[in-house]
Amino acid sequence: MGEPLLEVADRAGVFIPTGCLMGSCHACEVELEDGHCICACIAAVPAGREYLTINLFVDPTW
Ligand code: FES
Repeated sequence: MGEPLLEVADRAGVFIPTGCLMGSCHACEVELEDGHCICACIAAVPAGREYLTINLFVDPTW
């Protein structure tokens, strides 16, 4: 199951912008190390995984 990515980021002091919170608007999109993009609001850090590196690009005009 894992822990919601937004909660993990928040606990780490990392702000991920959000909008719809249901996977539609892509405001929360982050990039994984392999270049794959995911919506953070509907993603989780897999259970048992100690860390997950994401690239976060913020567009202040979004
Ligand atoms: S907040 Fe809209 S897709 Fe995540």
